[in-house]
Amino acid sequence: MADLATTQRKDQTEPARLDPYQIRADFPILATVNRFGKPLIYLDSAATSLKPQAVIEAVDGYNREYSSNIHRGIYELAERATGAYEAARAKTARLINAPEPAEIVFVRNATEAINLVAYSWGRHHIGRGDSIVLTEMEHHANLVPWQLVVQEKDGDLEFVPVTDDGLLQLDVYEVLLHLRPKLVAFTHVSNMLGTVNPVREMVEMAHAAGALVLIDGAQAVPHAPVDVQELGADFYVFSGHKMLGPTGSGALWARRGLLEAMPPFMAGGDMIREVHLRRSDWNEIPYKFEAGTPDISAQIGMGAAAEYLMALGMESVRAHERELTRYAMEVLPREVPGIELYGPAAELRGGVVSFNLPGIHPHDVAQILDRSGICLRAGHHCTMPLHERFDLAATARASFNVYTVPEEIDALAAGLRDVVRIFDR
Ligand SMILES: Cc1ncc(COP(=O)(O)O)c(C=O)c1O
Repeated sequence: MADLATTQRKDQTEPARLDPYQIRADFPILATVNRFGKPLIYLDSAATSLKPQAVIEAVDGYNREYSSNIHRGIYELAERATGAYEAARAKTARLINAPEPAEIVFVRNATEAINLVAYSWGRHHIGRGDSIVLTEMEHHANLVPWQLVVQEKDGDLEFVPVTDDGLLQLDVYEVLLHLRPKLVAFTHVSNMLGTVNPVREMVEMAHAAGALVLIDGAQAVPHAPVDVQELGADFYVFSGHKMLGPTGSGALWARRGLLEAMPPFMAGGDMIREVHLRRSDWNEIPYKFEAGTPDISAQIGMGAAAEYLMALGMESVRAHERELTRYAMEVLPREVPGIELYGPAAELRGGVVSFNLPGIHPHDVAQILDRSGICLRAGHHCTMPLHERFDLAATARASFNVYTVPEEIDALAAGLRDVVRIFDR
């Protein structure tokens, strides 16, 4: 289960190769230069992706041509907006093979999706002494909401440790499942180590122990085929802005039965069926969880992003990024003296490479590379406990997407060599 794509591919034929040079023409921002006149080399897609013209036009089209509220008006503009919003839900459902669009709740991002589950499901199902199993490699978004739940309910958190190679210790996971946790929540792909977790196996083990499973797919959905029915999880969350969509868009997928049984997260307009002065009852799913006016254009843009990715073919996307990762992990240690890479071997990871240069703070690395137009993340990447686990204050991180080309990795290697030279003087 090392590979995101092949394990989920039904036939084993090679996916069509992407042409990233042609894809780049779809991203207007890649034609821009920085204040030093350098072309953009964007290696921070794990933080947020760039947006293709199709997404920009979808957002713009709503604002220019049919800006109006959804699920309310019965005039033409409003019907068009409602239609586009619901079509985006259907496209998002198709991207992850959800059984029905009604199981897709639109939210602002993966963080909001996890908070929704923690608040609505967690606060009603976690009681005194109940445990939730997480892993040491979680993004803060899949850690802090659970801390709040167990603090309020007097429950416990348990953590699957990470090996020195950046893999989850499944033998310890198995032991933790003997505690009969109510919930297990883990990331599909680590945003710091790049590790692709054996999620299907982990779901099966959790279910056998009677736990529900939440998967944080923020770093998986943009980069590989994800089939929620095949994974068998109970909750699956992701952000639109990391999958070529706009900021302010995201989705929670959960099984219909669970969503129907869960109480609302936020209350107000659109999430109700009937309101009286002293009581109300709730709209059907997913609207029960979408109180107030959502970010309509962002979700329409997310639908366009899902369509764009599906047209490229998610297996092709995965194959392209796997090749880039292999290339980066070969070139960087060869070309950059002393560089230390973190995480597992290329074939066990997504398109994320975190590293350090000896004696040089990653903030300095990122600042110097910025002059060459290279955008790199430096810091703890919202994974402070994982950095602590490796006794690191911070790392630099390069991350790839469909528009990334090997020449950008060469430019990164050259830039890093310059950084080492500057600090050697
Ligand atoms: C693995 C993972 N989970 C969750 C998140 C949170 O995503 P967002 O900030 O879009 O809510 C991120 C963002 O970097 C992430 O990488």
